[in-house]
Amino acid sequence: EAAEKAGFEHFMIKEIHEQPKAVHDTINSVVKDGAIDLSEVGLTEEQIKNISQIYIVACGSAYHVGVACQYVFEDLAEIPVRVELASEFRYRKMVLDPNGLVIIVSQSGETADSLAALRLAKKKGVKTLGIVNVVGSSIAREADNVFYTLAGPEIAVATTKAYSTQLIAGYCLAVQFAKVRGSIDDTQYAHLIDEMQQLPDKIAKILEDKERIQWFAAKQANAGDIFFIGRGIDYAISLEGSLKMKEISYIHSEAYAAGELKHGTISLIEDGTLVIGVLTQSELYEKTVSNMVECKSRGAYLMGLTTYGNYNIEDTVSFTVYIPKTDEHFATSLAVIPLQLMGYYVSVAKGLDVDKPRNLAKSVTVE
Ligand code: G6P
Repeated sequence: EAAEKAGFEHFMIKEIHEQPKAVHDTINSVVKDGAIDLSEVGLTEEQIKNISQIYIVACGSAYHVGVACQYVFEDLAEIPVRVELASEFRYRKMVLDPNGLVIIVSQSGETADSLAALRLAKKKGVKTLGIVNVVGSSIAREADNVFYTLAGPEIAVATTKAYSTQLIAGYCLAVQFAKVRGSIDDTQYAHLIDEMQQLPDKIAKILEDKERIQWFAAKQANAGDIFFIGRGIDYAISLEGSLKMKEISYIHSEAYAAGELKHGTISLIEDGTLVIGVLTQSELYEKTVSNMVECKSRGAYLMGLTTYGNYNIEDTVSFTVYIPKTDEHFATSLAVIPLQLMGYYVSVAKGLDVDKPRNLAKSVTVE
């Protein structure tokens, strides 16, 4: 096992470091000569043009990929998207659009609820596409089309590199759908592909700064509750940051759409409660900052996660993590890295079983 960890203390931190390569490989599996080629996925231009509704169905972190990609599909390709938890989707009498596309996202390709959701969609006659990591898994075999993520084997229960590659698969589909349907022009298309190709180096750069996050994380080991807030894509990032935190550190954490704070959550803020604000979307920046100020005035201790350049955040928060600039549609890929590191280092500081957290399984093959 020590050999498999390649000098790292845990599989999770090894897999966090494998993300630049996993992301690079997944992008390059479909980008050829500056264009996205979905021929291996098997979707024709005709089929892409006819999609009138997308349903993204998944569990756990894969569901959070769906939440993030929803914004990207809607904004770039202008196709309506619904994101559904597989365990809810399968028990709901949902009316599915016959020209819809059901995208099932799954690392293992064996999650029971996701597989059941796929079978249900097929039974209803709707086209299905799997975003799957494990070659030859049930979802990969049964879906009409498959986009394989190239994360390689993932051992740690808490997903990191598979999640990152699922995001990339979603972006590639959204960008290509946008191109084929004419909602972006050639310049925007080239720009988006170029920005995607820069993500691996930017992820590597964030990883260089891990000691600073480790230092901050170690101080949170005794926290009782942690809240993650953001709007839009920043809300999707918050969901994944919160899940990473709770699943391996056993600290109660929740993610809230920042605008919802006033509808109940703010009453949970006490002196010293850590609130992490995610601020990668420039249009929503001021709004989320004002929500953070509201938390601070009720005693919260604030951390900000934002893009280089937004230095005025330091007037409001006690600790800031900056990520490199990217096209804002793809900010999830960068902002999630410090949050993975936060969860990891809090868990390490508490001396917990990082790779095998209690009560959890890597692949949930029962309902
Ligand atoms: C488990 C794993 C999560 C994963 C979820 C869905 O809960 O611990 O990391 O996100 O299952 O798994 P899948 O294999 O379908 O992506």
